[in-house]
Amino acid sequence: MFLPVLQGKGIMTKTLILYYSRTGTTDKLAMLLQQELDADIEPIRCGRYAGLWGYVRAAYDSLKRRLPDLETVNANLGDYDQLLVGGPIWTSYPATPLRAFLKANQSLPDRVGLFLTYGGHSPPEKAEADIQGLLPGPLEGSVFVSAGDLAQGLKLHQLSEFVRMFKR
Ligand SMILES: Cc1cc2nc3c(=O)[nH]c(=O)nc-3n(C[C@H](O)[C@H](O)[C@H](O)COP(=O)(O)O)c2cc1C
Repeated sequence: MFLPVLQGKGIMTKTLILYYSRTGTTDKLAMLLQQELDADIEPIRCGRYAGLWGYVRAAYDSLKRRLPDLETVNANLGDYDQLLVGGPIWTSYPATPLRAFLKANQSLPDRVGLFLTYGGHSPPEKAEADIQGLLPGPLEGSVFVSAGDLAQGLKLHQLSEFVRMFKR
């Protein structure tokens, strides 16, 4: 059941954004969404893909469907009505830290949305279907943004449909 909580002056929905970003692209998108939705935000941290060999390990793990260890997420998922999860696409799949997080956390807020960034050479719907398979319920909404669009200065109207779904 979807329950708004009473916060401060009025009735507000509590939204959490959790995302993984290796090179900062998804980070940018997460920040834009955070401003629009007035959400709490926390990165999913995973040391395995940092540094020189990080790219190689990322591609290898993604292809092998190997899931990495993650650092603990501080946010308490039970405090939120909505969760937006985000990450990049790796070898046509959602990045392994995002998959690992969802696999390990099945008690999620009632409404879950997805944002993915990608280089533009894979159909994001395949990665979306992969995420959907890891969730206990249906995704409320998804948005896919290419790294090129973000680098050129994404216009907020490109996100407006997604933002509307989660703005309460
Ligand atoms: C290991 C690896 C595999 C990738 N595979 C794909 C892919 O299959 N399709 C695609 O469009 N982009 C692919 N990319 C590009 C990333 O999805 C894109 O650069 C993304 O925006 C990076 O996000 P980040 O900076 O938040 O880590 C890949 C990147 C990496 C590191």
